[in-house]
Amino acid sequence: MARTALVTGGSRGIGAAISEALKAQGCTVAATYAGNDEAAAKFTEETGIKTYKWNVGSYEESAAGIAKVEEELGPIDIVVANAGITRDAPFHKMTPQQWQEVIDTNLTGVFNTVHPVWPGMRERKFGRVIVISSINGQKGQFAQVNYAATKAGDLGIVKSLAQEGARAGITANAVCPGYIATEMVMAVPEKVRESIISQIPAGRLGEPEEIARCVAFLASDDSGFINGSTISANGAQFFV
Ligand code: CAA
Repeated sequence: MARTALVTGGSRGIGAAISEALKAQGCTVAATYAGNDEAAAKFTEETGIKTYKWNVGSYEESAAGIAKVEEELGPIDIVVANAGITRDAPFHKMTPQQWQEVIDTNLTGVFNTVHPVWPGMRERKFGRVIVISSINGQKGQFAQVNYAATKAGDLGIVKSLAQEGARAGITANAVCPGYIATEMVMAVPEKVRESIISQIPAGRLGEPEEIARCVAFLASDDSGFINGSTISANGAQFFV
C-alpha cells in the first residue's frame, strides 16, 4: 500500500538516505530541513522528494508545517524523527545554551514532530513512528551530556508510545546508529575520530544507507509486531 512519510532532517546525512529508501519502497516522502536551502533544493532536484523548511524545536512551526504536508501529500502514515544537532563540550565547559539548543532540537523536536500526526494515526488505525536515537544514548559519551540525554530520552519516548499506540495499529521504535560517515561525525576532530574508529570492531564508520535500511523495514506494513524496540546498528561497538 502506498504510504506517506515525513522525515525530519531528511535532506542531508542519514535523513537523506532514509528519505530515499522510503521513496524506493513506494512511499510519498516529505523531507524537512532547518536552514540549508541550497542543500535542500539540490536534494529535491536529484531525488524528486519534496522538502519543507521548519524548526522542529518550535511546536507552532511543526504543527503548521505538518498541516501543509498533509494538505499537499495526504495523511502522514510514517513519521521519522531524525533531525538532530550536536553542541559537544566537556560538562564543566558546557553552557546552558548548549544544553538547551540540543534539548530543544533533539528531544522536544521529537514531541513536536510526532504529537501533531498522532491523532490522525489513531483515527486511521495505522502508524509507524521511528525515532533516530544514537549509540551515545545507550552508552553515554565524553563531551555529550546534552546529546546523550536526548538520545536516551528517545528510547523512553518510543517505549511509552508503543504501549499507547499498540491497540490502534501504531508502532513506535528507535534506531541507534553507531558512528556513521556523515558531516556530524566528520566534524569531530580528526584525532578523536581516528580513536573512535579504532574502537569499532567492524573497523570502519557505518554508511547512511545501512541505517536507512533499518528504518525502511520498521516503516513497512510487515513490521507490525515490532513495537517499542531498539535496533542498534553500530559495527559491534556496543551491546545493550
Ligand atoms: N575520553 C576521555 N577523555 C577525553 C575524551 C574521551 N573521549 N575526549 C577528550 N578527552 C580529554 C582530552 O584528552 C583532554 O584531556 P587533557 O585536558 O588531559 O589534555 C580533555 O578531555 C578535553 O580537553 P579540551 O579542553 O581539549 O576539550 P575541548 O573543550 O576542546 O573539547 C571536544 C573538545 C569537544 C571534547 C572534542 O574533543 C570532541 O568533539 N570530541 C568528540 C566528542 C564526540 O565523540 N562526539 C560525538 C559526535 S558524533 C555524534 O554525536 C553522532 C552519533 O550519534 C554517534
